[in-house]
Amino acid sequence: MRETASDFMARALYEPGRGYYRRPVGPWGFEGKDYYTALDLGPLLGETLALRLEQAWERLGRPARFTVLEPGAGRGWLGRDLLQGARGAFAEALVYVHRDDNPAARAMAGEALEPWVGKGRALFLREDEPIGPFAGAVLSNELFDALPAQPWRWTGEVWEREVLTLDGPGWEAADPGEAGDWFAAQAEDGLHPGDGSIWCEDLPKRVAELCAPLQAGLFLAIDYGESAPRLLAKGADLRRYKGHTVDGRWWEEPGESDLTADVDFTRLEALVRAQGLGEATQSSLSRWIREHAPLAEWEGQWQALDGATRLKRMENLLQLTLPGMMGERFRVLEAWR
Ligand SMILES: C[S@@+](CC[C@H](N)C(=O)[O-])C[C@H]1O[C@@H](n2cnc3c(N)ncnc32)[C@H](O)[C@@H]1O
Repeated sequence: MRETASDFMARALYEPGRGYYRRPVGPWGFEGKDYYTALDLGPLLGETLALRLEQAWERLGRPARFTVLEPGAGRGWLGRDLLQGARGAFAEALVYVHRDDNPAARAMAGEALEPWVGKGRALFLREDEPIGPFAGAVLSNELFDALPAQPWRWTGEVWEREVLTLDGPGWEAADPGEAGDWFAAQAEDGLHPGDGSIWCEDLPKRVAELCAPLQAGLFLAIDYGESAPRLLAKGADLRRYKGHTVDGRWWEEPGESDLTADVDFTRLEALVRAQGLGEATQSSLSRWIREHAPLAEWEGQWQALDGATRLKRMENLLQLTLPGMMGERFRVLEAWR
């Protein structure tokens, strides 16, 4: 038996009925106490996004309908926070589209989005269902780091890929094809033994299908990841999340623990640009929040909250903005059409 790490990741996460993201019932993610995302910290990410998307709506000339497609929408919490945070005429234009075939998460999203479903403000789309052209935004939080990806390593002489055999995990020499050319071009001062990175074969296809229906508006991706040169220098590998512990033991407990791969943001941006989007910018999530959240206004409003709620808001803000906390570990890519 020999399986590439990428095939293992695909099976562990997406095998129908058994994969971590394809089980009919949880526990998964925070419910399974394996990991939490920025959405588990509180509503501030969604509220900031609501303001950012309102700016995009203004820029498009305030269209009567502004569609937000969220691939990898999971429990629908970002949609809920967005719909709750949207104000005035923008709230009337906003239609949120949840797209994620994760059955346990989809059931939770049905509850989270329930107040808006009957009003036609929240819709559900299967991953294979097409969506017509729209003006608005494509928004994702931790979608791309959940796509199966293959770790590669440079020995100084050859490329090796990570595999699982009957003897356990290991590395074998193989031809990296396009990935090898990309890595070599991205290594800032040449390749050194031990350099290595992650290659997501499906990324071009996923990016193309997400950008295609966006006629005008904003593409915004929030994810774990780094620039291509930094990933190479650190020798990026798969990560496993189990019980809030992070380790590299990706081959253990398939379907019972989360697997993620760092996102190559240099490549993601290049692919988005290749789809005709422009004005691409990248920053850490913490910087993005400091730039786009109305911090002074919030501070004033929070004075009126009860003590416990005010404290939760403060914690949410600090987690998203302080050095070393969650906001520093995520990157945000924005691009416009
Ligand atoms: C790490 S979870 C993030 C969920 C949610 N965005 C959050 O922050 O809580 C990744 C999700 O992406 C979904 N996913 C993977 N590939 C997808 C695709 N091609 N289209 C839509 N969803 C996808 C998985 O089913 C899973 O629910």
